[in-house]
Amino acid sequence: MAGADAAGRSNEELIGRHDVGDRAAVLATVGHEDPDGHHAVADPCPAEFTWDYEKGTRPRLDRLYEKAKTAQWNARTDLPWEVEVDQERVVMLNQAANAGLRWAPEDVAGTALERWGDEEWLRLGIENQNWMLSQFMHGEQGALLCTAKIVETVPWIDAKYYAATQVMDEARHVEVFSRYLDEKLSGHYPINAHLGLLLDDIIGDRRWDMTYLGMQIMVEGLALAAFGFIHAMTQEPLLKQMLRYVMADEARHVAFGVVSLQDYYAELTDAELRERQEFAFEAAVRMKDRMMMQEVWERLEVPAEDVVTVTSRSPERDEFQVLLFSKIVPNLKKLGLLDAAGGWLRAKFTEMGAIGFEDLVDTAQEVDAEADGSPAARSVA
Ligand SMILES: [Fe+2]
Ligand SMILES: [Fe+2]
Repeated sequence: MAGADAAGRSNEELIGRHDVGDRAAVLATVGHEDPDGHHAVADPCPAEFTWDYEKGTRPRLDRLYEKAKTAQWNARTDLPWEVEVDQERVVMLNQAANAGLRWAPEDVAGTALERWGDEEWLRLGIENQNWMLSQFMHGEQGALLCTAKIVETVPWIDAKYYAATQVMDEARHVEVFSRYLDEKLSGHYPINAHLGLLLDDIIGDRRWDMTYLGMQIMVEGLALAAFGFIHAMTQEPLLKQMLRYVMADEARHVAFGVVSLQDYYAELTDAELRERQEFAFEAAVRMKDRMMMQEVWERLEVPAEDVVTVTSRSPERDEFQVLLFSKIVPNLKKLGLLDAAGGWLRAKFTEMGAIGFEDLVDTAQEVDAEADGSPAARSVA
Protein backbone atom coordinates (compact mmCIF):
# COMPACT_ATOMS: atom_id res chain seq x y z
CA MET A 1 0.00 0.00 0.00
CA ALA A 2 1.14 3.57 -0.60
CA GLY A 3 3.37 5.07 2.08
CA ALA A 4 4.76 8.56 1.51
CA ASP A 5 3.19 10.38 -1.40
CA ALA A 6 4.42 13.44 -3.18
CA ALA A 7 2.46 16.25 -1.59
CA GLY A 8 1.40 15.21 1.88
CA ARG A 9 2.15 13.42 5.10
CA SER A 10 3.03 9.73 4.96
CA ASN A 11 1.11 6.88 6.55
CA GLU A 12 3.82 6.72 9.25
CA GLU A 13 3.11 10.33 10.16
CA LEU A 14 -0.66 9.97 10.01
CA ILE A 15 -1.30 6.58 11.60
CA GLY A 16 2.09 5.47 12.94
CA ARG A 17 2.71 2.64 10.45
CA HIS A 18 3.48 2.26 6.76
CA ASP A 19 1.02 -0.51 5.86
CA VAL A 20 -2.63 0.21 6.69
CA GLY A 21 -3.32 -3.55 6.74
CA ASP A 22 -0.49 -4.48 9.17
CA ARG A 23 -2.50 -6.62 11.62
CA ALA A 24 0.39 -7.28 14.00
CA ALA A 25 0.92 -3.53 14.45
CA VAL A 26 -2.81 -3.01 15.03
CA LEU A 27 -2.91 -5.76 17.66
CA ALA A 28 0.13 -4.39 19.48
CA THR A 29 -1.89 -1.45 20.87
CA VAL A 30 -4.31 -2.62 23.56
CA GLY A 31 -6.54 -0.53 25.84
CA HIS A 32 -6.28 -0.84 29.63
CA GLU A 33 -8.12 0.71 32.57
CA ASP A 34 -6.89 4.13 33.70
CA PRO A 35 -5.81 3.40 37.30
CA ASP A 36 -7.60 6.40 38.82
CA GLY A 37 -10.75 5.96 36.70
CA HIS A 38 -10.32 9.21 34.73
CA HIS A 39 -8.66 10.35 31.51
CA ALA A 40 -7.87 14.03 30.88
CA VAL A 41 -7.41 15.55 27.41
CA ALA A 42 -6.13 19.11 26.95
CA ASP A 43 -8.52 21.14 24.78
CA PRO A 44 -6.83 24.01 22.91
CA CYS A 45 -9.93 25.09 20.96
CA PRO A 46 -11.10 28.61 21.91
CA ALA A 47 -14.68 29.01 23.20
CA GLU A 48 -16.51 31.59 21.13
CA PHE A 49 -19.37 33.96 21.89
CA THR A 50 -21.48 35.26 19.05
CA TRP A 51 -23.40 38.54 19.30
CA ASP A 52 -25.56 37.64 16.31
CA TYR A 53 -28.65 36.14 17.98
CA GLU A 54 -30.79 36.14 14.82
CA LYS A 55 -32.51 32.73 14.91
CA GLY A 56 -32.91 31.01 11.55
CA THR A 57 -30.00 32.72 9.79
CA ARG A 58 -29.02 29.19 8.80
CA PRO A 59 -32.45 27.71 7.97
CA ARG A 60 -31.43 24.04 7.66
CA LEU A 61 -29.80 24.11 11.10
CA ASP A 62 -32.82 25.90 12.50
CA ARG A 63 -35.13 23.23 11.09
CA LEU A 64 -33.01 20.43 12.58
CA TYR A 65 -33.11 22.21 15.94
CA GLU A 66 -36.91 22.43 15.85
CA LYS A 67 -37.16 18.72 14.91
CA ALA A 68 -34.76 17.77 17.68
CA LYS A 69 -36.85 19.53 20.31
CA THR A 70 -39.84 17.29 19.51
CA ALA A 71 -37.75 14.13 19.08
CA GLN A 72 -36.63 13.73 22.71
CA TRP A 73 -37.39 10.42 24.42
CA ASN A 74 -36.92 9.21 27.97
CA ALA A 75 -34.46 6.38 28.40
CA ARG A 76 -36.06 5.32 31.66
CA THR A 77 -39.72 5.23 30.65
CA ASP A 78 -39.76 4.65 26.87
CA LEU A 79 -37.84 1.35 26.80
CA PRO A 80 -38.96 -2.10 28.07
CA TRP A 81 -36.29 -2.56 30.76
CA GLU A 82 -38.37 -5.40 32.26
CA VAL A 83 -37.32 -7.68 29.38
CA GLU A 84 -35.11 -10.48 30.71
CA VAL A 85 -32.01 -11.08 28.63
CA ASP A 86 -30.44 -14.54 28.52
CA GLN A 87 -27.05 -13.52 27.14
CA GLU A 88 -25.85 -17.08 26.41
CA ARG A 89 -28.98 -17.77 24.41
CA VAL A 90 -28.64 -14.50 22.49
CA VAL A 91 -25.03 -15.34 21.60
CA MET A 92 -25.92 -18.91 20.56
CA LEU A 93 -28.75 -17.64 18.34
CA ASN A 94 -26.35 -15.18 16.70
CA GLN A 95 -23.77 -17.91 16.13
CA ALA A 96 -26.43 -20.26 14.74
CA ALA A 97 -27.50 -17.53 12.32
CA ASN A 98 -23.85 -17.14 11.30
CA ALA A 99 -23.84 -13.63 12.70
CA GLY A 100 -21.69 -14.45 15.74
CA LEU A 101 -17.97 -15.04 15.96
CA ARG A 102 -17.02 -18.58 15.11
CA TRP A 103 -14.27 -19.40 12.68
CA ALA A 104 -14.17 -22.50 10.48
CA PRO A 105 -11.75 -25.34 11.42
CA GLU A 106 -9.51 -24.64 8.42
CA ASP A 107 -9.18 -20.98 9.52
CA VAL A 108 -8.05 -21.87 13.06
CA ALA A 109 -5.75 -24.80 12.18
CA GLY A 110 -2.37 -24.50 13.89
CA THR A 111 -3.50 -21.77 16.32
CA ALA A 112 -4.64 -21.75 19.95
CA LEU A 113 -8.23 -21.64 18.67
CA GLU A 114 -7.83 -25.06 17.08
CA ARG A 115 -8.52 -26.71 20.44
CA TRP A 116 -11.62 -24.65 21.20
CA GLY A 117 -14.94 -26.40 21.75
CA ASP A 118 -18.48 -25.03 22.12
CA GLU A 119 -17.75 -23.60 25.56
CA GLU A 120 -14.82 -21.47 24.39
CA TRP A 121 -16.64 -20.20 21.32
CA LEU A 122 -19.60 -19.26 23.50
CA ARG A 123 -17.24 -17.39 25.84
CA LEU A 124 -15.78 -15.51 22.87
CA GLY A 125 -19.29 -14.52 21.78
CA ILE A 126 -20.15 -13.28 25.26
CA GLU A 127 -16.89 -11.36 25.66
CA ASN A 128 -17.37 -9.87 22.20
CA GLN A 129 -20.82 -8.63 23.16
CA ASN A 130 -19.60 -7.14 26.44
CA TRP A 131 -16.71 -5.51 24.57
CA MET A 132 -18.85 -4.12 21.75
CA LEU A 133 -21.48 -2.59 24.01
CA SER A 134 -18.69 -1.15 26.18
CA GLN A 135 -17.16 0.51 23.11
CA PHE A 136 -20.58 1.91 22.16
CA MET A 137 -20.85 3.35 25.66
CA HIS A 138 -17.37 4.91 25.58
CA GLY A 139 -17.99 6.26 22.08
CA GLU A 140 -21.25 7.83 23.29
CA GLN A 141 -19.37 9.56 26.09
CA GLY A 142 -16.95 10.82 23.44
CA ALA A 143 -19.93 12.21 21.54
CA LEU A 144 -21.25 13.83 24.72
CA LEU A 145 -17.94 15.65 25.30
CA CYS A 146 -17.48 16.59 21.64
CA THR A 147 -20.95 18.01 21.33
CA ALA A 148 -20.62 20.04 24.53
CA LYS A 149 -17.41 21.37 22.97
CA ILE A 150 -19.25 22.29 19.75
CA VAL A 151 -21.72 24.35 21.78
CA GLU A 152 -18.70 26.37 22.94
CA THR A 153 -16.71 26.62 19.73
CA VAL A 154 -19.04 26.82 16.71
CA PRO A 155 -19.50 30.47 15.68
CA TRP A 156 -23.21 30.38 14.67
CA ILE A 157 -26.16 30.65 17.06
CA ASP A 158 -28.33 28.15 15.12
CA ALA A 159 -25.58 25.55 15.47
CA LYS A 160 -25.10 26.26 19.19
CA TYR A 161 -28.86 25.75 19.69
CA TYR A 162 -28.88 22.48 17.76
CA ALA A 163 -25.74 21.17 19.47
CA ALA A 164 -27.37 21.78 22.84
CA THR A 165 -30.12 19.29 21.91
CA GLN A 166 -27.49 16.79 20.88
CA VAL A 167 -25.78 17.06 24.26
CA MET A 168 -29.03 15.80 25.80
CA ASP A 169 -29.31 13.04 23.18
CA GLU A 170 -25.79 11.82 23.95
CA ALA A 171 -26.38 11.84 27.70
CA ARG A 172 -29.35 9.56 27.05
CA HIS A 173 -27.24 7.28 24.85
CA VAL A 174 -24.53 6.90 27.49
CA GLU A 175 -27.31 6.18 29.99
CA VAL A 176 -28.92 3.38 27.93
CA PHE A 177 -25.71 1.58 26.99
CA SER A 178 -24.39 1.81 30.54
CA ARG A 179 -27.64 0.46 31.99
CA TYR A 180 -27.84 -2.33 29.42
CA LEU A 181 -24.28 -3.42 30.25
CA ASP A 182 -24.95 -3.34 33.99
CA GLU A 183 -28.34 -5.05 34.00
CA LYS A 184 -28.37 -7.34 30.97
CA LEU A 185 -24.78 -8.30 30.11
CA SER A 186 -21.89 -9.70 32.12
CA GLY A 187 -18.94 -7.35 32.28
CA HIS A 188 -17.31 -4.11 31.13
CA TYR A 189 -14.25 -3.42 28.99
CA PRO A 190 -11.99 -0.36 29.03
CA ILE A 191 -12.02 1.83 25.94
CA ASN A 192 -10.35 0.26 22.91
CA ALA A 193 -6.88 1.77 22.40
CA HIS A 194 -7.53 2.85 18.81
CA LEU A 195 -10.91 4.40 19.60
CA GLY A 196 -9.27 6.22 22.51
CA LEU A 197 -6.51 7.62 20.29
CA LEU A 198 -9.12 8.88 17.85
CA LEU A 199 -11.28 10.56 20.52
CA ASP A 200 -8.17 12.21 22.01
CA ASP A 201 -7.21 13.54 18.56
CA ILE A 202 -10.69 14.91 17.96
CA ILE A 203 -10.94 16.66 21.32
CA GLY A 204 -7.32 17.88 21.19
CA ASP A 205 -7.65 19.72 17.86
CA ARG A 206 -7.82 23.52 17.99
CA ARG A 207 -9.94 23.92 14.83
CA TRP A 208 -13.66 23.84 15.62
CA ASP A 209 -14.69 22.06 12.42
CA MET A 210 -12.43 19.09 13.24
CA THR A 211 -14.72 18.15 16.13
CA TYR A 212 -17.58 17.87 13.67
CA LEU A 213 -15.53 16.03 11.07
CA GLY A 214 -14.16 13.52 13.58
CA MET A 215 -17.33 13.00 15.60
CA GLN A 216 -20.44 13.83 13.53
CA ILE A 217 -19.11 12.61 10.18
CA MET A 218 -16.69 9.80 11.02
CA VAL A 219 -17.50 8.31 14.46
CA GLU A 220 -21.26 8.84 14.31
CA GLY A 221 -21.40 7.87 10.64
CA LEU A 222 -19.79 4.54 11.50
CA ALA A 223 -22.00 4.12 14.56
CA LEU A 224 -25.11 4.65 12.45
CA ALA A 225 -24.07 1.81 10.13
CA ALA A 226 -23.02 -0.49 13.02
CA PHE A 227 -26.24 0.09 14.96
CA GLY A 228 -28.18 -0.59 11.76
CA PHE A 229 -26.52 -4.00 11.27
CA ILE A 230 -27.02 -5.08 14.86
CA HIS A 231 -30.58 -3.77 14.92
CA ALA A 232 -31.39 -5.85 11.83
CA MET A 233 -29.64 -8.96 13.17
CA THR A 234 -30.56 -9.16 16.86
CA GLN A 235 -33.66 -10.99 18.10
CA GLU A 236 -33.31 -9.49 21.58
CA PRO A 237 -36.28 -7.09 21.85
CA LEU A 238 -34.84 -4.58 24.34
CA LEU A 239 -31.57 -4.12 22.44
CA LYS A 240 -33.50 -3.92 19.17
CA GLN A 241 -35.76 -1.13 20.37
CA MET A 242 -32.93 0.69 22.13
CA LEU A 243 -30.82 0.72 18.97
CA ARG A 244 -33.77 1.87 16.88
CA TYR A 245 -34.28 4.85 19.17
CA VAL A 246 -30.58 5.68 19.26
CA MET A 247 -30.36 5.43 15.45
CA ALA A 248 -33.20 7.93 15.07
CA ASP A 249 -31.08 10.44 17.02
CA GLU A 250 -27.82 9.54 15.28
CA ALA A 251 -29.24 10.20 11.81
CA ARG A 252 -30.01 13.74 12.96
CA HIS A 253 -26.51 14.13 14.41
CA VAL A 254 -24.77 13.08 11.22
CA ALA A 255 -27.06 15.40 9.22
CA PHE A 256 -26.04 18.20 11.62
CA GLY A 257 -22.41 17.54 10.68
CA VAL A 258 -23.08 17.52 6.95
CA VAL A 259 -25.24 20.65 6.99
CA SER A 260 -22.79 22.57 9.19
CA LEU A 261 -19.63 21.71 7.27
CA GLN A 262 -20.99 21.95 3.73
CA ASP A 263 -20.92 25.74 3.49
CA TYR A 264 -17.76 26.10 5.55
CA TYR A 265 -15.73 23.67 3.43
CA ALA A 266 -16.84 25.40 0.23
CA GLU A 267 -14.71 28.37 1.36
CA LEU A 268 -11.52 26.53 2.34
CA THR A 269 -8.36 26.37 0.24
CA ASP A 270 -6.99 23.15 -1.23
CA ALA A 271 -4.27 23.07 1.43
CA GLU A 272 -6.85 23.42 4.22
CA LEU A 273 -9.06 20.76 2.65
CA ARG A 274 -6.08 18.42 2.42
CA GLU A 275 -5.66 18.67 6.21
CA ARG A 276 -9.32 17.66 6.59
CA GLN A 277 -8.82 14.77 4.21
CA GLU A 278 -5.84 13.53 6.22
CA PHE A 279 -7.86 13.79 9.42
CA ALA A 280 -10.74 11.82 7.88
CA PHE A 281 -8.30 9.14 6.67
CA GLU A 282 -6.66 8.85 10.07
CA ALA A 283 -10.10 8.52 11.69
CA ALA A 284 -11.16 5.84 9.20
CA VAL A 285 -8.05 3.76 9.90
CA ARG A 286 -8.43 4.06 13.67
CA MET A 287 -12.04 2.92 13.47
CA LYS A 288 -11.12 -0.03 11.29
CA ASP A 289 -8.28 -0.90 13.69
CA ARG A 290 -10.59 -0.99 16.66
CA MET A 291 -12.64 -3.75 15.08
CA MET A 292 -9.77 -6.16 15.80
CA MET A 293 -11.12 -6.16 19.41
CA GLN A 294 -7.61 -6.38 20.85
CA GLU A 295 -8.88 -6.25 24.45
CA VAL A 296 -10.99 -9.41 24.02
CA TRP A 297 -8.07 -11.46 22.68
CA GLU A 298 -5.88 -10.26 25.51
CA ARG A 299 -8.52 -11.24 28.10
CA LEU A 300 -8.90 -14.69 26.49
CA GLU A 301 -5.10 -15.05 26.35
CA VAL A 302 -5.02 -15.73 22.62
CA PRO A 303 -1.55 -14.81 21.24
CA ALA A 304 -1.54 -11.91 18.78
CA GLU A 305 0.20 -14.00 16.11
CA ASP A 306 -2.69 -16.47 16.21
CA VAL A 307 -5.20 -13.64 15.75
CA VAL A 308 -3.19 -12.42 12.75
CA THR A 309 -3.23 -15.94 11.28
CA VAL A 310 -6.95 -16.52 11.79
CA THR A 311 -8.11 -13.11 10.59
CA SER A 312 -5.82 -13.22 7.54
CA ARG A 313 -7.44 -16.50 6.49
CA SER A 314 -10.97 -15.07 6.57
CA PRO A 315 -10.91 -11.90 4.44
CA GLU A 316 -14.73 -11.83 4.23
CA ARG A 317 -14.67 -10.33 7.73
CA ASP A 318 -12.68 -7.41 6.32
CA GLU A 319 -15.42 -6.94 3.77
CA PHE A 320 -17.95 -6.70 6.58
CA GLN A 321 -15.78 -4.07 8.29
CA VAL A 322 -15.68 -2.09 5.06
CA LEU A 323 -19.50 -2.16 4.98
CA LEU A 324 -19.41 -0.05 8.12
CA PHE A 325 -18.13 2.83 5.97
CA SER A 326 -21.34 2.85 3.92
CA LYS A 327 -22.70 5.91 5.74
CA ILE A 328 -19.41 7.81 5.83
CA VAL A 329 -18.27 7.84 2.21
CA PRO A 330 -21.42 9.50 0.71
CA ASN A 331 -21.23 12.22 3.39
CA LEU A 332 -17.55 12.91 2.69
CA LYS A 333 -18.44 13.16 -0.98
CA LYS A 334 -21.21 15.64 -0.26
CA LEU A 335 -18.71 17.74 1.72
CA GLY A 336 -16.40 17.78 -1.30
CA LEU A 337 -13.66 15.96 0.60
CA LEU A 338 -13.36 12.91 -1.66
CA ASP A 339 -12.26 14.90 -4.69
CA ALA A 340 -10.65 18.02 -3.22
CA ALA A 341 -6.88 18.46 -3.40
CA GLY A 342 -6.40 16.15 -6.39
CA GLY A 343 -8.67 13.39 -5.09
CA TRP A 344 -6.27 12.31 -2.33
CA LEU A 345 -9.03 10.90 -0.11
CA ARG A 346 -10.71 9.11 -3.01
CA ALA A 347 -7.44 7.25 -3.59
CA LYS A 348 -7.20 6.32 0.11
CA PHE A 349 -10.75 4.97 0.28
CA THR A 350 -10.20 3.10 -2.98
CA GLU A 351 -7.20 1.36 -1.34
CA MET A 352 -9.38 0.51 1.66
CA GLY A 353 -12.06 -0.95 -0.63
CA ALA A 354 -14.77 1.47 0.53
CA ILE A 355 -15.16 3.81 -2.45
CA GLY A 356 -18.10 1.80 -3.85
CA PHE A 357 -20.43 3.49 -1.34
CA GLU A 358 -19.92 7.00 -2.71
CA ASP A 359 -23.27 7.18 -4.49
CA LEU A 360 -25.46 5.92 -1.65
CA VAL A 361 -27.87 8.44 -0.14
CA ASP A 362 -26.20 10.93 2.19
CA THR A 363 -27.45 11.16 5.75
CA ALA A 364 -28.80 14.71 5.47
CA GLN A 365 -31.49 13.21 3.23
CA GLU A 366 -32.40 10.25 5.48
CA VAL A 367 -35.97 10.10 6.77
CA ASP A 368 -34.92 9.84 10.42
CA ALA A 369 -32.93 13.06 10.23
CA GLU A 370 -36.06 15.07 9.47
CA ALA A 371 -38.65 13.05 11.40
CA ASP A 372 -41.22 14.80 13.59
CA GLY A 373 -41.82 13.64 17.15
CA SER A 374 -40.00 11.16 19.37
CA PRO A 375 -39.60 7.52 18.32
CA ALA A 376 -41.97 6.61 21.18
CA ALA A 377 -44.66 8.92 19.79
CA ARG A 378 -44.06 7.66 16.26
CA SER A 379 -44.13 4.01 17.44
CA VAL A 380 -40.94 3.33 15.55
CA ALA A 381 -40.19 -0.40 15.39
FE1 LIG B 1 -25.05 8.97 20.41
FE1 LIG C 1 -24.77 10.99 18.25
